Amino acid sequence: MLDIINNSGFKYIKLINLAIIISGRGSNMTSILSSIQKGKIQNVVPKVVISNNPDALGVDIAKKQFGIPTEIILPQGKKGWEYDCEIVTVLKKYKILKSNGLICLAGYMKILSKEFIDQYPFRIMNIHPALLPSFPGLHAQKQAIDYGVKVSGCTVHFVDSGIDTGPIILQEPVPVYSEDTEDTLSKRILEIEHKLYPKAITLLANDRITIKNRIVTIKE
Ligand code: GRF
Repeated sequence: MLDIINNSGFKYIKLINLAIIISGRGSNMTSILSSIQKGKIQNVVPKVVISNNPDALGVDIAKKQFGIPTEIILPQGKKGWEYDCEIVTVLKKYKILKSNGLICLAGYMKILSKEFIDQYPFRIMNIHPALLPSFPGLHAQKQAIDYGVKVSGCTVHFVDSGIDTGPIILQEPVPVYSEDTEDTLSKRILEIEHKLYPKAITLLANDRITIKNRIVTIKE
């Protein structure tokens, strides 16, 4: 995160331990992991991919394509903090702490409890396929088409205890065409998501993000 020169003049780099939490195909996870692999995101070490869904395609990709440890945490009827505290236990096992950790939600289909979020202030990011605060929640692309907007897009934001309401880090517009279906718009937005999420992580890793009263400022 930071280049720090210590008293003896040696420069060392503070690394960020990354967890990615998914529920499905994991294409955003893949774009993040390949950006790290290619050196486009620096100073970030992927430690674990966590899923609530044992059949998530992304779990296989994390393991086989990237060699990242994966952990499946089955809900088994547990909700809220009762479930989330199992995730936090896994995060701590992989040394993902509020001081050095980053947790990226990437198609994770559960809502995080306040107790979880409070343990990692401004250390949990999410990507949403619309220009928030428009079209939060599920089926954001269909919501955009049904409303008739001409421009939608995607947003990377910090997670707070509301649904897609946290401080906005980056947004990118995407045009909506009259012939669009939920599927065609989703694909066009997804291409941009794959660039935007790695950019946001890079900003955090390079210590370029400051937050005051929910307003995120990007330092030059
Ligand atoms: C993406 O559209 C993301 O914006 C939303 O869920 C979808 C996940 O897709 N939060 P993938 O699993 O990353 O392919």
